Amino acid sequence: MSADSPYPELKKTHTMAHAGRPWRDYKPPPSGPVWSVINAGNTYWMLIAAIDLGVFDAMEPGVGTSGSDLAVQLDVSQHGLQHLLDCMVTLGFLDQIDSCYELTETSERYLRSDGPASMVSLVKISPGPLDNWIGLSETIRSGKVKNPIDDDIVGFYRPLVSATFPTQYRVATRLGSIMGWARHSGLRVLDLGAGAGPWSAALLEHAKDSMAVINDFSSILELAESSMKSKALWQQCEFRAGSFHEIHIEESCYDMVFLGHICRTEGEKNTKDLVRRAVAGLKPGGKIVVADYFSDNDKRVNAFGVMMGLTMLANTRNGGAVTFEEMYRILAANPIERIRVLEPIGANMVFVGDKT
Ligand SMILES: C[S@@+](CC[C@H](N)C(=O)[O-])C[C@H]1O[C@@H](n2cnc3c(N)ncnc32)[C@H](O)[C@@H]1O
Repeated sequence: MSADSPYPELKKTHTMAHAGRPWRDYKPPPSGPVWSVINAGNTYWMLIAAIDLGVFDAMEPGVGTSGSDLAVQLDVSQHGLQHLLDCMVTLGFLDQIDSCYELTETSERYLRSDGPASMVSLVKISPGPLDNWIGLSETIRSGKVKNPIDDDIVGFYRPLVSATFPTQYRVATRLGSIMGWARHSGLRVLDLGAGAGPWSAALLEHAKDSMAVINDFSSILELAESSMKSKALWQQCEFRAGSFHEIHIEESCYDMVFLGHICRTEGEKNTKDLVRRAVAGLKPGGKIVVADYFSDNDKRVNAFGVMMGLTMLANTRNGGAVTFEEMYRILAANPIERIRVLEPIGANMVFVGDKT
């Protein structure tokens, strides 16, 4: 048993007289980083509770509400709600002015169901099934995921692609402005693993008289069909159901191919095959667009990308982190030139390359 105290920085009685010579003769590091991780798990469930109880939706932007009024409005216990509201203040999702709580700009934008960039559905679905996290050590031990989301297209991907549509539609729209899609017309594009179709929707809105071949599994394509209908773009779309590893892709036919957030679940070999198929489908001068959450090359700096990689490992058969360098090499192994990385909105990176 170690003579060191479990919380040396908190325990003033931890002197050599009481506990013997510490096994290191310098001040031990604080346990704060471990507590941060323990609390990070807890804060996720606090946010889920606040969303489930309708806290953010019940509060009017710019108007302060007391905990007791809100408890009556939501028909919940004031004691419990008060604690939850205080925690939301510490997380920066509410402001507290005297005894009143107000939405912050962050919660107004992302945590209300009607927020302009609402992440309400995404907060719930994004981590994947809880069982996969509880079983992560077993997944790493055995190399096998218990409930791969690859087997639950309807249960996992349907809510996911609906939840991510608003964000990816914004990314695609900004990318369209950067790349000047509006200066082009009559484009023919292929959208692989299109989900609800944010990339095709943005392209068709920018580039007049264009058409999109939209691919996904049939149960997901229904969502793409309905978003294209709601934007009156349906007539410009062909919906091609099936696995993007198997569907027919015409040679040298497309001006642009989108691979929007599909590579990180595929693993290196499948991604190479997919990119090769996508490039073969491009006309000379056509553009490949690969959007994903990439990790930095050393997997040390961009915690978001590194952790997204582990989220893929925890939830998919083949997925994991994809570094910028790995994606660059995969693209560069094809007849692709002018490979560049763009960041249309914060933290959303997109590789673009031109077919030679
Ligand atoms: C993370 S979503 C991305 C959706 C959309 N491209 C975007 O950027 O928002 C991944 C999509 O790929 C689809 N997908 C996964 N494996 C696929 C496969 N083998 N063939 C076709 N689609 C697939 C899923 O059904 C899901 O709609």
